Amino acid sequence: MDEQIYFNPWDEAFRANPYPYYRPLYGRPPYPLNLFIPMALVANYDHAVEILQDHQRFSSKQQTTSAFEEQDRTLFAGSATMLFSDPPTHTRLRKLVSRAFTPKRIRDLEPRIREISATLLDRAATRGEIEVVADLATPLPVMVIAEMLGIPPGDYERFKHWSDRVVESDNVPPGMPLPEEIKQAARDLRAYFSAAIEARRRAPGDDLISALVAAHDENDALDAGELLAFVLLLLLAGNETTTNLIGNGMLALGRNPDQLELLRGRPELAPRAVEEMLRYDGPVQSTVRHNREVVEIGGARIEPETMIFVILAAANRDPAHFRDPDRFDITREPDGHLAFGDGIHFCLGAALARLEAAIAFGAAVARFPRLRLAQPDATAHYKGSYFLRGLSALRMAIK
Ligand code: HEM
Repeated sequence: MDEQIYFNPWDEAFRANPYPYYRPLYGRPPYPLNLFIPMALVANYDHAVEILQDHQRFSSKQQTTSAFEEQDRTLFAGSATMLFSDPPTHTRLRKLVSRAFTPKRIRDLEPRIREISATLLDRAATRGEIEVVADLATPLPVMVIAEMLGIPPGDYERFKHWSDRVVESDNVPPGMPLPEEIKQAARDLRAYFSAAIEARRRAPGDDLISALVAAHDENDALDAGELLAFVLLLLLAGNETTTNLIGNGMLALGRNPDQLELLRGRPELAPRAVEEMLRYDGPVQSTVRHNREVVEIGGARIEPETMIFVILAAANRDPAHFRDPDRFDITREPDGHLAFGDGIHFCLGAALARLEAAIAFGAAVARFPRLRLAQPDATAHYKGSYFLRGLSALRMAIK
């Protein structure tokens, strides 16, 4: 049975469609593997939930051997970020940031998200075709976050370029040094946002950066390094993921024209369709945890300091939890997919991503009654990252 298991995130064919490779991992304990360092693969839904909900046994701190850790040092310069920290640091950061990154701030963005989506679709409408990734999925989240942070929308191409380079660092195998180009992009990103934060300190506005500068409780506030680290985390965690949700989701609709028709006829299904897109082909394939002690999951013993791959996208297709998991069905009753994680690190931006995607799909389907794949039989091409799964381009016909 073991020889059927193949897991290689650096193999392009594996990354293009990892789902068949997950099947032999179901219904068994986490699978041990050594790819440069000791790892364990977790695909079962129940095991994934157990790990994500137990931050005491399963840490989010980076291991010293990983390329992430080096990226971490270059980009965050030693400041803690909530994604890669455990309590009490995580609790403190999440609490302070949540004072500024509020549900109301997200709700207030709705009219602007509609406007930006309409503008982007209008631009594409002058041609016979829309390239979903470049025309809609990439600019929308970056323009929304720029607006939220209070930085000029025209600058988005610059910081998008830098953050794309930084995201590529997850392709560097553990133990290998980071390429200079990636380190330089991290430095440029830091310099750009340090200046933006300084400007808000001198002249506060009603944007998120100003609110983060002001965020404090009785005897605590974010220091300058933590604030910068959080803004960078928002860009990295928020943009590429939302872009990929719109791209992957549109491909799923294009390949399932009956579901596309259903959505067109019943636009109120958009939020539920987005949940199914997140479950079926989510933007985050996997997250990672580490155990300091020996742990047992599903009866298997896992040695200390193992890199535990909690494969969210695999758990979202676990046949023990989801009926007919490989079917894309936008009317499916939501059943706790793990695309946004679970436990204390549950995605802080989930409401924003859901809102943007529901608006984008609603607007695209309404604007283009003949929306369909431009090349139904073409092979889909993905960007380089395994962790953040997303198409490099997607052509849809609109006339
Ligand atoms: C479809 C889009 C998105 C997906 C699929 C996604 C997915 C995730 C996942 C799986 C985690 C947990 C990782 C872990 O437990 O190791 C996470 C955490 C996080 N996400 Fe998202 N995310 C998305 C969009 C966003 C957006 C738009 C923002 C902000 C603007 C954002 C900000 C964050 C932050 C700050 C964390 C860290 C939370 C913590 O550690 O407490 N995400 N996201």
